[in-house]
Amino acid sequence: MHNKHLQFENDSETIIAIDGLAQELTLLHITDSHMATADDRDPDALEDAARFKKLFETRTPNNVPTRQLFQEALAHSNTIGADATLLTGDIIHFPSHAALEWIEQGVQSLQSPYLYTLGNHDWHFPHLEWNDDTRLAHYPRFNHLTNNTPAAQALDLADIRLIAIDNSNYHLTPEQLAFLRQQLATDRPCLLFIHIPIAIPSLIPAVVEVWKEPIVMAADGWSEEGKKKWRVGEHYESTLACHKLLTEEAQNLVAIFCGHVHFSHSGEVHPGCMQYVTKPCFEGGYREIRLKPMV
Ligand SMILES: [Fe+2]
Repeated sequence: MHNKHLQFENDSETIIAIDGLAQELTLLHITDSHMATADDRDPDALEDAARFKKLFETRTPNNVPTRQLFQEALAHSNTIGADATLLTGDIIHFPSHAALEWIEQGVQSLQSPYLYTLGNHDWHFPHLEWNDDTRLAHYPRFNHLTNNTPAAQALDLADIRLIAIDNSNYHLTPEQLAFLRQQLATDRPCLLFIHIPIAIPSLIPAVVEVWKEPIVMAADGWSEEGKKKWRVGEHYESTLACHKLLTEEAQNLVAIFCGHVHFSHSGEVHPGCMQYVTKPCFEGGYREIRLKPMV
């Protein structure tokens, strides 16, 4: 399969020519709005929600509310007539009922199908342990946004396949890996949507410069202190197998789109496949993805 990444250095628009694509497709990628809100239904989160709402507003353009930027990004999807909208996590800062309602009201305004995959903040309250039990306990809140499968989803759109996997604990479980393999076993060109970028050589220095640790999936070079702070643990075998699959084996994988590190970046995964990290929505970011037939 031959793909050409025609425009890959632009922060807000990516153009990819794909061999065999019959029609042009436009997608919108939104990530990391970090909307924080809570009400009496989540009393333990009230204080943190107020604090983080304020904190993120100091980082938005003109200090507008994060929710406004989320709504503007969704409206942009409709304006450009996107064929699908892809949301890759940390859209909310805590899984409060009120925050979930903000997502629901948002996606209801979309004129396109969407995929929603989770980030590390989507399922975690600061007063709870950061572990897989907490993630699992909050999965049901996302069932109706994820066709009842928050861990892994796929959507066929015209000639292409969109795959969304929750890698927000820095890992892929064996079940998620099996799902990914199965979805990639197709003649369709595939695009993968995840919260946490995978380790590729061009991304690591930029991540370490900002975060002091390589906070991406399957990265080497964590300090012992960093592993504890980010609760990343040792790599699962399935995580390393996923990394190999994506970087060496999946020839029909055209691109990976992700967020988490809060800056825009593009870098090669393997010849013909690029990873695009999108600027966070709380900074007014989103990425138009234009897929064109190869001429
Ligand atoms: Fe994140």
